[in-house]
Amino acid sequence: MVDTVVARTTHLVFASIWAGSVFYVALVILPLARDGAFNTTKPLESISGQLTTISRVSALALLLTGGHMAGTIYTSETLFSTLNGQLVLAMVALWLALTALVEIGAKRFESGLNGKKLREPAHRALPIFQAATVVAIGLLVVAGLITTNVGRLF
Ligand code: HEM
Repeated sequence: MVDTVVARTTHLVFASIWAGSVFYVALVILPLARDGAFNTTKPLESISGQLTTISRVSALALLLTGGHMAGTIYTSETLFSTLNGQLVLAMVALWLALTALVEIGAKRFESGLNGKKLREPAHRALPIFQAATVVAIGLLVVAGLITTNVGRLF
């Protein structure tokens, strides 16, 4: 019981931190960098490094807490045969996509910054972070469907 409370709360906290930080980078930081608001690469290198750390820690925390919840709430049969179980499987697929997109986007951004360019790497990384934002919002929509037990409505 206590473990479920801890797992569910930790899961929610890291889901919010991860989705929020990706959203902010895609909607605020990268457009500013692309439009020339930064004079040096230093703050952008730091932002990208911190985002990568937040993303990796969140991805691990969500995998562990989500895995624990999946193991206690579902069986290998209900995971595939119920709508909520299928939504959890969709959550895992989206988790993988979000992890990959942030890694690829940050690599693309940092390799440009290492070449001492500022606006061009932001321009190149922006579509990847926009895609990551769509995936992050998709994850929260899937979570909303699970939480409201949408399967019961049909
Ligand atoms: C391997 C990755 C993941 C697994 C295995 C997983 C698994 C789960 C499970 C089993 C639940 C509870 C389902 C239920 O109550 O029937 C859940 C809920 C939830 N998940 Fe995930 N999840 C993962 C990744 C994510 C990610 C990446 C996010 C968002 C960024 C996320 C956000 C949520 C939210 C907001 C809830 C609702 C919590 C609540 O109702 O209290 N999950 N997840």
